[in-house]
Amino acid sequence: MCGIVGYVGREEAAPILLDGLARLEYRGYDSAGIAVYSARDGLQVAKAKGRLQVLSDKIHGGADVRGRIGLGHTRWATHGEPSDVNAHPQLSESGRFAVIHNGIIENYVEIKEFLQEQGVSFVSQTDTEVVAHLLDYYYKDDMMDAVVKVLHRIEGAYAFGIVCADCPDRLIAARKDSPLIIGYGQGFNFLASDVTAVIKYTREVSYLDDGDIAVLTADKVEIYDSLLLPQNKARHTVDWEVSAAEKGGYEHFMAKEIMEQPEAFRKTISPRIQNGRVVLDDLEIGADDLREMDKIYIIACGSSYHVGVVAKYTLEKLLRKPVEVALASEFRYCDPIVSPKTLCIVISQSGETIDTLAAMREAKRLGARVLSIVNVVGSTIARESDDVLYTWAGPEIAVATTKAYSTQLAVIYLIGLYFADQLDAIDEETYRSVLEELQRLPDKMEKVLEQKEKIQYYASRYFNHESIFFIGRNVDYAVGLEGSLKLKEISYIHSEAYAAGELKHGTISLIEPGALVVALAGYRGLFEKLMSNVVEVKSRGADVLGVTTDSLGAEMEKTVDAAVTVPDTLDMLLPSLEVLPMQLLAYYIALMRGCDIDKPRNLAKSVTVE
Ligand code: M6R
Repeated sequence: MCGIVGYVGREEAAPILLDGLARLEYRGYDSAGIAVYSARDGLQVAKAKGRLQVLSDKIHGGADVRGRIGLGHTRWATHGEPSDVNAHPQLSESGRFAVIHNGIIENYVEIKEFLQEQGVSFVSQTDTEVVAHLLDYYYKDDMMDAVVKVLHRIEGAYAFGIVCADCPDRLIAARKDSPLIIGYGQGFNFLASDVTAVIKYTREVSYLDDGDIAVLTADKVEIYDSLLLPQNKARHTVDWEVSAAEKGGYEHFMAKEIMEQPEAFRKTISPRIQNGRVVLDDLEIGADDLREMDKIYIIACGSSYHVGVVAKYTLEKLLRKPVEVALASEFRYCDPIVSPKTLCIVISQSGETIDTLAAMREAKRLGARVLSIVNVVGSTIARESDDVLYTWAGPEIAVATTKAYSTQLAVIYLIGLYFADQLDAIDEETYRSVLEELQRLPDKMEKVLEQKEKIQYYASRYFNHESIFFIGRNVDYAVGLEGSLKLKEISYIHSEAYAAGELKHGTISLIEPGALVVALAGYRGLFEKLMSNVVEVKSRGADVLGVTTDSLGAEMEKTVDAAVTVPDTLDMLLPSLEVLPMQLLAYYIALMRGCDIDKPRNLAKSVTVE
């Protein structure tokens, strides 16, 4: 979850590190720190609790910490509260080593006790501090040897950046189960959690694999595998612009990313539709494999899981094959029924979510074929799956996902059509009508986004509610799950989403005068049933904000207190339109409540700890 960056080159390191951290701050933002080495001042460390700006102010934008090699870290606390002392870099007792870390050292207690017996004093509550002291313990004038011994001794997940005052021309990077990249420059090199930290300086990157250790100097990067065999790592060129990871005039990344959705959706589907057919050249899975497959398991977390819930409805309808959707954190431990005849579709924006990654590895171990839907190119899930379909959403910076969700849906629709075609499960007319409507969706999404002022007005009516319920049936229910998550994530309002038919099995007891219910009723075949549920909550005093299609809007308005309509579309494609007012509502409510929208409390963009 934390963000790490390291620089070695010919420029002053501190401003570059702070700039990199600013771009990584979405990974964790409870404290930050840097360590910079210079021959005159030795290893200097500056750390501060709070947002990166606090640290930056403390060291005058980096001017107080001179040197051309260093490490930076922005933290999402796991072990030890957010504080100056628990912030990284962590120093070894001798002051020789500084370490930044993303991940968790699982056996840190045992190592800490061992080191304490050797007389080492600890100053923080972090698991990372043991690594710094252990480096001291093993160090006998050979930095690499000490690092290797430490890596053998520790258990858990890590991406490390290490600097040693005795070898001030180099950084060492090491990874296991936490993302780490190398950025290559002319006369400088970087290590970082992801490319956003380095894109301003270089587009040439390599993705480290588990077990890799890299040694970076200003002019060279050497990469070794876990057996210390030199690696010839592939270099990739990042193909998006620096501006894609900047706010571009918007107040928040979330607002920008909401508005980018029609274009992102277009970019995701257009290259994959040729001559009236869905073409998924990047897939190796063939018609025979699909015919053999007896079940699809969808695995994901959070909003990606909500895409999975939509996918269950959509794929079962199109393919007539059983589709099960599982939370990755549950899948791992539920003894899942998976066989070589199972296709696992793994959905992840970051491609690094540890629960999803671990579930995917378990599915593969059980023999399943894995197709992943991922946004971040070169991420671990993308690299470890049998097939990957990228969502071409560009960098998503706001913690609350919007455009990744929409482009994941786009890929699900493409997969549904493509598989149905391969399996002869769809007639030509239906295929054509779904495909044509899919291509019309970006324009319709634009129409929905044009209503943002109206939704802002509704937000001003409802932002003081302390509890908001979302109800829907079929895909409307799936959208309700996402609407509810968006709202609670960024506005901190308590919220629940229910399949509308479930209300009277318990939840309706929570409905009292003044409660707000958001009723999603776009699904034409279930409109009347949903409206009966609306009447039920209204008769108990609830305010109802309804969401439906243009053609059903007038009917809905007879019953609800406020309504938003989206252009008519096929039922199965409704989520792409209905989710937009849900995102806008959450955004404006959070704005009116003065919340920190892009960096909500306690959260981080990429959840790389279990
Ligand atoms: O990167 P992933 O798609 O694997 O992330 C999964 C969830 O952590 C993520 O969707 C989370 O729920 C979002 N913050 C929701 O907006």
